[in-house]
Amino acid sequence: MLIRVRRPGDIDPREITDEGLYLRRREFLRSAALAGGAAAFAAAGAPTASRAARLAPGDLAALTGLVPSPFSTDESPNSFEDVTSYNNFYEFGTDKEDPARHAHTLVTDPWSVSIRGEVERPGEIALEDLLKPHALEERVYRLRCVEAWSMVIPWVGIPLGDILRRFEPTSHAKYVAFRTLYKPSQMRGQRRRVLDWPYREGLRIDEAMNPLTILAVGLYGRVLPSQNGAPLRLIVPWKYGFKSIKSIVSIELTRRRPATSWNVSAPREYGFYANVNPEVDHPRWSQKRERRIGEFRRRPTLPFNGYAESVADLYAGMNLRKNF
Ligand code: MTE
Repeated sequence: MLIRVRRPGDIDPREITDEGLYLRRREFLRSAALAGGAAAFAAAGAPTASRAARLAPGDLAALTGLVPSPFSTDESPNSFEDVTSYNNFYEFGTDKEDPARHAHTLVTDPWSVSIRGEVERPGEIALEDLLKPHALEERVYRLRCVEAWSMVIPWVGIPLGDILRRFEPTSHAKYVAFRTLYKPSQMRGQRRRVLDWPYREGLRIDEAMNPLTILAVGLYGRVLPSQNGAPLRLIVPWKYGFKSIKSIVSIELTRRRPATSWNVSAPREYGFYANVNPEVDHPRWSQKRERRIGEFRRRPTLPFNGYAESVADLYAGMNLRKNF
């Protein structure tokens, strides 16, 4: 984002490489084990090689009993390979291929999430207990990166609002603040001060409670690959992708608007709201069009990434140029 000097419009579909997908078998099995609380797992396909294997869907444990969602788009999803080899996850490096190459060092089991702040029932909860009461839904969403590329991704997740309600937000809860794991020994990108680690994001409480907002634990019917933010990440499909924070360890409900990583790093370039808006350009490039990964021609970017019908009301009366 800030670091790459090349213009986002220059991204060529051929740049999507599949190198470096070196998840080892133990990581696959760990990933599989951790999500077991949410749903019964089908047996994972056996990885074909222990090293230097290209990640294939069959390498990851299958999530079963998925409920389809009326919120899914019927647009064709990007390939599993696109989704898992072209990533932004600066904790593992700033090149698009870095997360696939390096994220296998992330230990995702055991994993727990701290839920605190303005809730009646705060606590540190093991991931499997967090997920256990919920059905897993498949949500095929458009993802629009602020860098002007986009994909369609079949996520598996749970509405964030359903999870938050269990912890009983108080009437003072106005915002939700999220934090990624900080562990430079596992996340090599954190050894450089590219951002003020840990990565932080935030939503207004009504945005968090909107039924489109999910916490994802999988994609393509499988547990989440590490490069996509295993074992738990946020998905807010009407906002630029940087709001969809990966590998979450902390969720805090707050009275005040929380500081968020990209907004702190470059406030003139990345707003707190970050709603997809073709009318408000990034200071260094246009947001009017986007390149769907795998397509040659750019397509127009839609207000709220095409989800205006479900979310435009949240911003009634707000100046979206000022609150960008
Ligand atoms: N979360 C963390 N912790 N670190 C990151 O660098 N990058 C963001 C977001 N979440 C990022 C993150 C950006 S800029 C985008 S576009 C999406 O993740 C990309 O998600 P994907 O790699 O699964 O497509």
